[in-house]
Amino acid sequence: MKKTSHLSVIIAAAGSGTRMGGVSKPFLTLRRRTILSYSLETFASLPETREIIVVVSPRDLAAATKSLARAMKRCKISHIVQGGEIRQESVANGLKHVAPDAELIAVHDAARPFASAELVKRVITAALKHGAAIPAAPVKDTLKRAGKDGRVMETVPREGLWHVQTPQIFDAKLLRDAYKKYAHRGEFTDDALLVERMGHPVFIVPSDHTNLKITTPEDMLLARTLLTRGVGQGKM
Ligand code: CTP
Ligand code: MG
Repeated sequence: MKKTSHLSVIIAAAGSGTRMGGVSKPFLTLRRRTILSYSLETFASLPETREIIVVVSPRDLAAATKSLARAMKRCKISHIVQGGEIRQESVANGLKHVAPDAELIAVHDAARPFASAELVKRVITAALKHGAAIPAAPVKDTLKRAGKDGRVMETVPREGLWHVQTPQIFDAKLLRDAYKKYAHRGEFTDDALLVERMGHPVFIVPSDHTNLKITTPEDMLLARTLLTRGVGQGKM
């Protein structure tokens, strides 16, 4: 029987929000709550969560430390640490603060406020079974490959193609080993790719597009609409 509090969570909130106009997306508000607070509440509500490490940019560190001070215990936040220039440096810094005896590590983008507790639970179950599990939504658009001049070269069948999301959850040793071995060898688009490089299978947990990543200003409009439909209310 697995003990309940076996999950350490790293929330990557240290980006520069370039596509949002240079603002720190995790600290923008939706319904008077920060975008970051939605994921904090979701993870903190799960008995599986033992600790949360929040990684923020150097420019937000002082303000975040102050504003989260009262929520630390309730939200199971163990550390608020500084991130790096690129996402994997931020995650690597978060990893240094994970409890040495962690069993599973979740890496989540603060910019995804609506990952539901139900989804996280399904990813945990798959990670306990396979060692590496990631939520993803099936690609619904037609995909084409085109040359630099815009001329279509081919239509790519979308069968078996997925939009990958977070939280990505891994066996703690596997993720640590993958970071140790590969994190310095170029930039990676997601954490699962490092684990794939280790030759370890990664499994998809079907999700949907409500687990959106807030990237550009239109995504804020979409997020507000989803909130009016009950998404992100922590009631799942
Ligand atoms: N992130 C991070 N450290 C970085 C870059 C990104 O912790 N050096 C985090 C972001 O805060 C975000 C998540 O990784 O929660 C996904 O990144 P993205 O959506 O690309 O956010 P930004 O990098 O902030 O945005 P942009 O790429 O437009 O600058
Ligand atoms: Mg980015």
